Amino acid sequence: MSTQTKQTRKTTADVKKMKASGEKITMLTAYDYGMASILDESGIDIILVGDSLGNVMLGYDSTLPVTMEDMLHHTKAVSRAVKNAMIVADMPFLSYQVSAETALTNAGRFLKEADAQAVKLEGGREFAEIVHKMTYAGIPVMAHLGLTPQSVHQLGGYKVQGKKEDAAEIIMQDAKILEEAGAFAVVLECVPEKLAAEITHALSIPTIGIGAGVHCDGQVLVINDMLGMNDKFIPKFVKKYAGLNLEIKKAVKTYITEVKQGDFPAVEHSFK
Ligand code: KIV
Repeated sequence: MSTQTKQTRKTTADVKKMKASGEKITMLTAYDYGMASILDESGIDIILVGDSLGNVMLGYDSTLPVTMEDMLHHTKAVSRAVKNAMIVADMPFLSYQVSAETALTNAGRFLKEADAQAVKLEGGREFAEIVHKMTYAGIPVMAHLGLTPQSVHQLGGYKVQGKKEDAAEIIMQDAKILEEAGAFAVVLECVPEKLAAEITHALSIPTIGIGAGVHCDGQVLVINDMLGMNDKFIPKFVKKYAGLNLEIKKAVKTYITEVKQGDFPAVEHSFK
């Protein structure tokens, strides 16, 4: 048996190189095998199995109810599909905040059981020690600053963060501390474009923005939002690249009509 394993997925080294060369990093979320295959075949750099799973796939009002088992289940499905992109799995609420020991064990499960290559966790300097421990154990960590949806109740809603000078300074310091602790990249969510540009300039690791302007090293969106799967509220920072909600409804309505009228299946869909 060969001892060499095939490594074709993008790595943390690849994304760091992309920052150095000025090539923008593309990241989208996926939660299942089918969508992950499409994103991978389209050439996306990173697939995030986000805990936005809670909102877009499981129908919760927030990400707070999402469990480790939910995240592992969906990360495993994504991993089975992906050959080229890097897979980052989100650590759900209370899977890393309670103790360093459970944080490390839970993070490790994404690599051991679900074939992810990295984890993402929300929060600033208070998690620096945990980020350091994970990195030291061989678990790459993507940090997440600015609007951190798991803290929605503490933040008082889904609002732009770092608008005032002192709040901006805290986010800047957190980014530097997390880089120092070993994070290989940082998501900046809903922060002013100027602050995101300054952080991007100050760090040697890549920044990946969502609602953080064009100067980040990369961009991320929730796949359901950018495909227009949802006909309800869409945040200002989302661009709809397709209108699948309407497209799917149109297809389903046509199917219903054709079945009711006996037009489907036609001769070519039937066996003689
Ligand atoms: O859970 C998620 O999808 C995320 C992205 C919005 C960055 O954290």
